Amino acid sequence: MVDEVLALFGDKMSTFLDCNLGVGGHAKAILQNHPELALLIGIDKDQSALKLAKQNLGAFEAKVKYVHGDFNALDQHLKIVGIKEVDGVLFDLGVSSMQLDEEKRGFSFRFNSPLDMRMDQTDPVCAKDIINTWTEKELGELFKNGDVRNFQAIAKRIVQSRKKQPILTTFDLIHCLEGLLIKTRKHNSATLVFQALRLAVNKEVKHLQEALPKALSMLKKGGICVVISFHSIEDRIVKNFIRENSAKQIEGEKLIPKVCNLTKKPLTPKEETKINKRARSAKLRAFRKV
Ligand SMILES: C[S@@+](CC[C@H](N)C(=O)[O-])C[C@H]1O[C@@H](n2cnc3c(N)ncnc32)[C@H](O)[C@@H]1O
Repeated sequence: MVDEVLALFGDKMSTFLDCNLGVGGHAKAILQNHPELALLIGIDKDQSALKLAKQNLGAFEAKVKYVHGDFNALDQHLKIVGIKEVDGVLFDLGVSSMQLDEEKRGFSFRFNSPLDMRMDQTDPVCAKDIINTWTEKELGELFKNGDVRNFQAIAKRIVQSRKKQPILTTFDLIHCLEGLLIKTRKHNSATLVFQALRLAVNKEVKHLQEALPKALSMLKKGGICVVISFHSIEDRIVKNFIRENSAKQIEGEKLIPKVCNLTKKPLTPKEETKINKRARSAKLRAFRKV
């Protein structure tokens, strides 16, 4: 949703924080559209994404600082690079096409690979650990939150199956769920099972909840934050965060909101959808710091 992002960041900016640098697609568009920009800080927890971003953003080398880390510590990352506040913040949540297409990462059931799914290879817990150690109740809860319709049956089958032998690969998981995976035009339980696991491995929901207040506090007054999400849970978190902070609150003697909601309804992709399957479920919300 590059055009929508560029339209929202229409004002002149001097510092910009890209919390999900990925391979630098959005960052490049921002840098090209804002020649006045002095510094773009790009965070990603995936070292291989940062490596590709460095190649992609080579022409802007002097203006970009790369940070390997989690955006839930964005305040710390900015402090380390000596930045107190920024004009714009972008979150483009979730997994990248590059990660989905990298066979050995285990994000996709298109390939037979170890059940890994860590965006940050230095993280201690991978999908295999969750599948083989969480209780049936915990797994059921995980899949329920991930919108998997037959979440109880799936959790039960995993626990039965791993008693016989551990579930180590993406294909092991798919095989063990044979007969339980529903696939209709609107519902694909294999995709949802994998997505729920990925969200848990990378603590994506928790880290988003931690990051949004930090993003707000690091924004200059008048600065803008844009969040693109791909999951209903994440979109709800963003929606509620904007709603809570756009309600009038006491500050000193006055009643003022902290943010102004720039997207009463979330923006959804138009043209991009046809070529990029992953973009279909994207929802974009934005706010301006008051
Ligand atoms: C959808 S991609 C971003 C694509 C990027 N906007 C582009 O145009 O190339 C999401 C990226 O965010 C990273 N990521 C996801 N959660 C993160 C987190 N909590 N902290 C830092 N990076 C994260 C992933 O590793 C992935 O590279």
